[in-house]
Amino acid sequence: MKVGYVFTRTLSAVFLIIATNCKLLAGVIPDSNTTEPLALRKIMSDLGKNMQTITDGISREDWKLVKKAASQIADHPQPPFVESIQILSFVGSNVSLFKDHDNKTHNAAIALGKAATEKDGYKVITAFSILQNTCLTCHQNFRKSFQEHFYN
Ligand code: HEC
Repeated sequence: MKVGYVFTRTLSAVFLIIATNCKLLAGVIPDSNTTEPLALRKIMSDLGKNMQTITDGISREDWKLVKKAASQIADHPQPPFVESIQILSFVGSNVSLFKDHDNKTHNAAIALGKAATEKDGYKVITAFSILQNTCLTCHQNFRKSFQEHFYN
């Protein structure tokens, strides 16, 4: 009887721990059908701001500013580990396509930075347009399905 009681208490304690942990995890791991924005969205929004800085830099012929913003695009942060896993598992067999788009953006931003170092305005504008195309291509391929999957 006593052993049974201890056993039941232990069992309920274990369940409590599991339940609490699930609650904690639920806070950390965003559910795939939540309206909580992805960290990716903030990263993207910052890329957008960097692009605006670049157009401003071009207008002012401030090549240092262009170079700085281009390098921030090239080295943009990655989403946190758990979100990266969710993204990779969602893109599934398209993972190499997704990564390829990211690499193209990276390389185009590096090329833009080089043009800015050379202070060659026309080259900067051409490189900027190539960069914009890399953003657009990934958006056309992935934005809609990401939003359908990660937000309701
Ligand atoms: C590898 C794919 C990929 C590349 C490359 C990419 N994006 Fe995105 N971007 C996305 C996805 C997916 C979304 C939708 C995310 C969401 O709605 O949460 C997005 C959304 C955005 C948004 C909207 C953010 C918001 O607040 O709704 C902006 C701005 C943006 N991207 C800018 C850029 C810029 C600028 C570049 C290039 C320098 C770029 N992105 C390159 C995948 C990409």
